[in-house]
Amino acid sequence: MSGSNERHLDAFWMPFTANRWYRNAPRLITEASGVRYRDEAGRELFDFASGLWCVNAGHCHPRIVAAIQEQAGKLDYAMSFQLGHPEVFRLAERLAELAPPGLDRVFFCNSGSESVDTALKIALAWHRQRGHAGRNRLIGRVRGYHGVGFGGISVGGIGNNRRQYPVQLPGTDHLPHTHAPAQMGFSRGQPEWGAHLADALDDLVALHGPETIAAVIVEPVAGSAGVLVPPVGYLERLRERCTAHGILLIFDEVITAFGRIGHLFGSQRFDVVPDIICCAKGLTNGAVPMGAVLVRRELFDDFMEGPELAIELAHGYTYSGHPLATAAAHATLDVYAEEGLFTHARGLEQQFEDRLHGLKQRAAITDIRNIGLMGALDLEPVPGEPSRRGITLFEQAFEAGLVVRTAGDTLALCPPLVTQPDELDMMFDRLEQALIALP
Ligand SMILES: Cc1ncc(COP(=O)(O)O)c(C=O)c1O
Repeated sequence: MSGSNERHLDAFWMPFTANRWYRNAPRLITEASGVRYRDEAGRELFDFASGLWCVNAGHCHPRIVAAIQEQAGKLDYAMSFQLGHPEVFRLAERLAELAPPGLDRVFFCNSGSESVDTALKIALAWHRQRGHAGRNRLIGRVRGYHGVGFGGISVGGIGNNRRQYPVQLPGTDHLPHTHAPAQMGFSRGQPEWGAHLADALDDLVALHGPETIAAVIVEPVAGSAGVLVPPVGYLERLRERCTAHGILLIFDEVITAFGRIGHLFGSQRFDVVPDIICCAKGLTNGAVPMGAVLVRRELFDDFMEGPELAIELAHGYTYSGHPLATAAAHATLDVYAEEGLFTHARGLEQQFEDRLHGLKQRAAITDIRNIGLMGALDLEPVPGEPSRRGITLFEQAFEAGLVVRTAGDTLALCPPLVTQPDELDMMFDRLEQALIALP
């Protein structure tokens, strides 16, 4: 590969990337269509990561592309502060209709991280609004990922994402994570063991006092930590304990919403209704940044008091409800419905699970987990060199014509929902090649 200066690769400080490693052998994607990328050398690669858990309907879907193009020529921008455009109101109505019952008020933002910070702020402000200003403690979970804002890293539970930043929100605490390989190693779908781990909330309540806790935030399925699937009964128990203690339950569905586990919202698969849902990613199929926070109606109503000219929630973004994102979201929701993609995704689940667990003998693998079209496997680390095996797998998969997502020595897989059975087989065949070649 020629020198990176010549190719102007120096200035971009890449996110969540080992920048020096990348520049040694830059991989540049130049086109995409359906479940495939093309790199600058013209090679086709399967996208086994759905972009970054977001391109659920496949890349450059013509319907979504056309909607964005048309909108760009019609209304490029209109602020949502004291003004609005019709389509964003219609989008909120659509999401409200599709959401679990009662969550029918929608706040728009631009990313998953912003949706998390928005949800945490709404939770704090709501308790204060009701005269319970002492409820200002936020509970996350170890190994949870809630984006990169200060709120998100404070309730988040991934050590590497927190350690560089000595200043975080005060008054946060964490539930234990739910991954116990000895009890649930190589589970298919939800592990039977572990519902009782939700009772740890009672310990935190006893420690801090219920009158100090505003909200609990969890991902229904922890995604970035490597697809940690909730044990049977765990989310139900957490819902029940939150209600008992007057604590709001926030589901961070940035990954699990929009069909990833076969339903529009993950909470619909588990049949557990939180008070607030965060979403982003698949909302616009990744084509234009957008996030949303769905809130139970009664919470919203509690804010609608006081002087009529007072702003009820001092929060918002220049690009809240951006017209291009709104157009992309409408088209994406149309595609999900008209192409029956959630049903299609459910139809792929068994093949996905069988092929994923069939990898067990292909390398030194210490665990495999899956639900819906989310899967992960843990590679045994090279002694003294954490991440080495993961990054080597990423490189070898790329050589084999496959883009995968690795974090440390964990590989996470999430095919686009539009993937056809023969394409899914080809993705796994290539992955197998890469795993077998792993030193
Ligand atoms: C559960 C969850 N929350 C929040 C985020 C942050 O989203 P973003 O990167 O759009 O800020 C992510 C991103 O992967 C996520 O998986």
